[in-house]
Amino acid sequence: MRVKIAVLPGDGIGPEVVKQAIKVINVLSKKFHHQVEIKEGIVGGAAIDKFGDPLPEETWKICEESDSILLGAVGGPKWDNLPGDKRPEKALLKLRSGFNLFANLRPISIFDELIFSSPIKEEYLKGVDFIIVRELTGGLYFGKPKETRIENGEEIAIDTMIYRTSEIRRIAHVAFKMAQKRKKKVTSVDKANILECSRLWRKIVEEVAKEYPDVALEHMYVDNCAMQIVRNPKQFDVILTENTFGDILSDEAAVITGSIGMLPSASLGETKKGLYEPIHGSAPDIAGQNVANPIATILSVALMFRYSFDLEEEAKLIEKSVRKVLSLGYFTKDLYANNPYAQKMVTTEEMGDLIC
Ligand code: NAI
Ligand code: MG
Repeated sequence: MRVKIAVLPGDGIGPEVVKQAIKVINVLSKKFHHQVEIKEGIVGGAAIDKFGDPLPEETWKICEESDSILLGAVGGPKWDNLPGDKRPEKALLKLRSGFNLFANLRPISIFDELIFSSPIKEEYLKGVDFIIVRELTGGLYFGKPKETRIENGEEIAIDTMIYRTSEIRRIAHVAFKMAQKRKKKVTSVDKANILECSRLWRKIVEEVAKEYPDVALEHMYVDNCAMQIVRNPKQFDVILTENTFGDILSDEAAVITGSIGMLPSASLGETKKGLYEPIHGSAPDIAGQNVANPIATILSVALMFRYSFDLEEEAKLIEKSVRKVLSLGYFTKDLYANNPYAQKMVTTEEMGDLIC
C-alpha cells in the first residue's frame, strides 16, 4: 500500500513522542512492504514563533495532500497569554473543523501489567474496555458568540453551546455502529436536566437508536458519569457525548489506564482521512527530559492503520508489541512507581526502540 502521512510534532513533549511513533511507522512499513511517505509540518507554538500563525498555510497544505495526519501536542506557558484565536490550540480546532473531523474516538482499556500504576483498585479495573465517542466540531468550543467584552463597566465573557440536529445525528450513528461491533451498549451522556442542547441531544439519540434495535441505549447525566467512570468503569461499552463533556471525561478515564501517556485518539469525518493524536498535552513540566511516555502516540498510529488505512493486522501488531514490552516490565517514569511488575525504568527513546 502507498500512503502519505502528515506529521505535526508540535510543542513540548510532542516532538519527543512523535519521533518514537515515526520509528514504529518505519519498522512497520518495511515489514509489511508499504510505501509510506512522511511529511513534517510545523504547528502550534513553534509555528507562532516562526510564522506568527499556529497553523501556517504550508502546514495546512501538507495535511490536505496527505491521507492521514499524526499530531503530537501543542501549547505551553510561553504562549499562554495570547488571545484565544492566536493561541497554539487554535491549530487543533482549525484542523478538526477544517477537515470536518466530527468524531473523536478514545478507546479505554487496561493492560494487566498497569493495573498497579492506576490509583483505582484492582477489582474495579480488570476487564475494563470501553470507548468514548466524543463530538468534536460543535458545542462550546465552536459556538458563536465567543468573546470577552465590557458591559456596564465590567468585563464579561461569553461562550456559546450550540448543537444542530444534523451534528447530533451523525455522531450518534458513529456510536451505535461502534457498539454493534462491540458489546452492543451505548451510554449517552448529557445534562438534560439543565441544558437545552442536552434535551435535543437526548431526543435525536433516541431517534437514531431505533435504527439499531440490537444495541441497548441508556442515558446518564454527566456528573453521575464522572463518578461512575471511577466507581464502576466495567459497566461501559460505548460512551457517546458532546464536545466539552467528552474532553473532560476522557482525561478522567485516563486514570484507569495508569497514565495519561497511554491514551490514543482518532478523529474522523466522512472520509478516510483522520487526525490521530495522544489525548495528553505538551506536558511542559517534563519536556526535553526524555522521560515522556510515547505509548499514547504509538497507539494512535495503530488507530491510524486501523481506521484510515484498513490495515488491521498492522494495527494489531503495534498493540501486541506494546503489550509485550509492558509484560517484560519496561516502564516509563509515569508508570513505574508502586508497580510490582516494573523491572526497569526506560526513557522515551528506549521505549520507542523496545516497541520497534
Ligand atoms: P498535559 O496533558 O500536557 O499534562 C498533564 C500532566 O500529565 C502533566 O503532569 C504531564 O507531565 C503529564 N503527562 C502528559 N503526557 C504525558 C506523557 N506522555 N508521559 C508522561 N506524563 C505525561 O496537560 P496540561 O499540563 O494541562 O497542559 C499543558 C499544555 O498542553 C497546555 O498548553 C495545554 O493547552 C496543552 N494541551 C494540548 C493538547 C493537545 O495538543 N491536544 C491537549 C491538552 C492540553
Ligand atoms: Mg483534553
